[in-house]
Amino acid sequence: MPLPRRSAPCHFGAATHPNRDPSLKSVLILFAHPALQKSRVNRVLIEGVRELPGVTFHDLYEAYPDFDIDVPREQGLLLDHDVIVFQHPFFWYSTPALLKEWQDLVLQHGWAYGSEGKALRGKTFLSAITTGGREVAYQREGHNRFTITELLAPIEQTARLCEMEVLPPFVAHGTLGMKDDEIARHAADWSRIVEALRDERIDLEAARSQTRLNASLDSVVREGGR
Ligand SMILES: Cc1cc2nc3c(=O)[nH]c(=O)nc-3n(C[C@H](O)[C@H](O)[C@H](O)COP(=O)(O)O)c2cc1C
Repeated sequence: MPLPRRSAPCHFGAATHPNRDPSLKSVLILFAHPALQKSRVNRVLIEGVRELPGVTFHDLYEAYPDFDIDVPREQGLLLDHDVIVFQHPFFWYSTPALLKEWQDLVLQHGWAYGSEGKALRGKTFLSAITTGGREVAYQREGHNRFTITELLAPIEQTARLCEMEVLPPFVAHGTLGMKDDEIARHAADWSRIVEALRDERIDLEAARSQTRLNASLDSVVREGGR
């Protein structure tokens, strides 16, 4: 398997590209993995989405290896897109550190939230995560004592405070020892979801009844025409 391209340029401007179909939603994937060279799962998941038309793939650790985040650039990217995705491995029941720093710096009071902060209002938000722990471990009676929905509550509420519509997360559980064919299946599901988000083919009502967007994909994604 080829190594993921860490130095490839980001596909900025998908949202404002002159050839962009204006009836499609623009998707911004904020990707955070501090050791992509060691990744087995995310490196495959991102290959299917990073060059999709209408999708801006933004590798935060590549852009900001020194954590020196360009806040105006990040806010501009958010403004330019309809759907905002946090994609990352689950680290200590949360995001990798750079994505937390990104939230602390970019989601400013008076811009993202507060009585004057309406920049993100009406956009769609979702998390796309991979967890070492298996699904059974993320139950009340399981090893991790809390469900993924509960553990993602701070991120969900951050998005809600910014008045975004929050979709259930895409979750690939059990990455430790995950077989290649299972990784490929998750990657296909993830690409299908991103394309459907872009093409407005997600059945929002069906999606909201799921704990994971990829739990029952056929009932959530409409195929073909819109
Ligand atoms: C610093 C660190 C913290 C982690 N914390 C968690 C965790 O809280 N829950 C969990 O299920 N897995 C945890 N893991 C496992 C990662 O989520 C897992 O290795 C990753 O999802 C695999 O994706 P990748 O192949 O793209 O690296 C952690 C891994 C590291 C390195």
